[in-house]
Amino acid sequence: MIENFEELRIQALACRRCRLAETRTNVVFGAGTPAAKVMFIGEGPGENEDLQGEAFVGRGGQLLDRYLHHIDLDRSRNIYIANMVKCRPPKNRDPQQDEMDCCIDWLRNQVYLIRPKIIVCLGRIAAQRLIDPKFRVTKEHGRFVEKNGIWMMGTYHPAALLRNPASKPDALEDMAALREKILEVCPETYSL
Ligand code: URA
Repeated sequence: MIENFEELRIQALACRRCRLAETRTNVVFGAGTPAAKVMFIGEGPGENEDLQGEAFVGRGGQLLDRYLHHIDLDRSRNIYIANMVKCRPPKNRDPQQDEMDCCIDWLRNQVYLIRPKIIVCLGRIAAQRLIDPKFRVTKEHGRFVEKNGIWMMGTYHPAALLRNPASKPDALEDMAALREKILEVCPETYSL
């Protein structure tokens, strides 16, 4: 493991472990503060993220920011956001298993250094890889399970909410459940 977050970032930005390196514009390492106790993990960069080198900056990202602000979370202050893969899959296809396998050590090292108390998986891809291979977002969203001392929860991906606004009330309930869990296990989040 790399023991320094900035060193980890520098090395990840030069990564060429998988085919996504050939088509990316930028590696999207992550956003937020490494002092956070709450991490959000999405799928992979889209077009805007690839162009800007920043996680969740497109329409989905703007929606995510609104949901975060709803429970007093802010990417510049008290959370960290990363993705299952750090480079954009062409045409925003799902990341393939071997691409996630190549990328997972970067994420593991981020989790090792951040030591979050809570991880929120945004969408099926992250939840199936990190919580349960059979995870169904529509059925299991908002439920917390403890794994290796970290409370894990899966919720709707912001892009899914843009496609299907009928799920928005459920997603807001998940945010309320997240606020309760934060107050229980890492209340310091609200003084960061
Ligand atoms: N979708 C994701 O899963 N991650 C991003 O960073 C942007 C869009």
